[in-house]
Amino acid sequence: MVKICVIGSCAMDLVVTSTKRPHAGETVLGDNFSTVPGGKGANQAIAAARLGAHVTMIGCIGEDFYGKAIIDNLISNNVTITFVDSTSDVSSGTAHIILAEGDNSIIVVKGANDKVSPALVEKALDTIKTVDMVLVQQEIPEETVCYVSDICHRFKIPLLLNPAPARTISKTVIENAAYLTPNEHECAVLFPEYTTTEALRKYPNKLFITEGSKGVRYYDGEQEVLVPTYKVNAIDTTGAGDTFNAALAVALAEGSSTQQSLKFANRAASLSVTKFGAQGGMPTRSEVEVNL
Ligand code: RIB
Repeated sequence: MVKICVIGSCAMDLVVTSTKRPHAGETVLGDNFSTVPGGKGANQAIAAARLGAHVTMIGCIGEDFYGKAIIDNLISNNVTITFVDSTSDVSSGTAHIILAEGDNSIIVVKGANDKVSPALVEKALDTIKTVDMVLVQQEIPEETVCYVSDICHRFKIPLLLNPAPARTISKTVIENAAYLTPNEHECAVLFPEYTTTEALRKYPNKLFITEGSKGVRYYDGEQEVLVPTYKVNAIDTTGAGDTFNAALAVALAEGSSTQQSLKFANRAASLSVTKFGAQGGMPTRSEVEVNL
């Protein structure tokens, strides 16, 4: 069983489904409202645990109703929560999601996720040193991502950086990461000086650009490769990227080839969109393998 440490956000997703997305200044009637666990960090932790990894989460919740539900959910999905801190200063993170016209729009209120500090990560250093892969995203402070990249570099722990949501990142963080998984928009923010092809060639077998329903693109050292996704009936794409990242981390940590790992990650992500909620469709290991 590979060991993965996820350093990132925990949130409650407040989801409205509607046939129409309102324009600025417009009011529309929605169809349904649900509250489901989310946050890119917690989503990736739970996806990796369902795929059979031993997962430790480093994060922060508010001392409130949502915080308790987030912790209960991590525990029931076998994620180790020793380093999930709590604070009374600020509420748990929330994501305000509209599902309409076949896609989602999300506003994230970071709340307690802003308290995921280098000091909190440092408390977990002995555990981090034992893992096969660290996974980090960008719903936590930038200085924490920099610190994580620094310790991963120092202790030679592979770091998978999912640079979402988009923000500029220092060259050192980019170099320290073993793997980068932006979508096309995030890639343009990461590498404003390069075209997609130039960026891919600069980082062979390291930069994996996700292209939604088309698949994932990378450069294998000789040529650009597009690993296609699987066609499914998509109900809710929220969390597909998180499932992809978690599955990729698990497969790479297990020693699978780049191509095999991307295929596994695409399969897991495609299954995740067949059910409602960021975590609702995240598959187990056997569900992915049977469908590969
Ligand atoms: O990646 C999907 C996640 O992004 C949602 O669960 C929501 O919490 C937002 O953070």
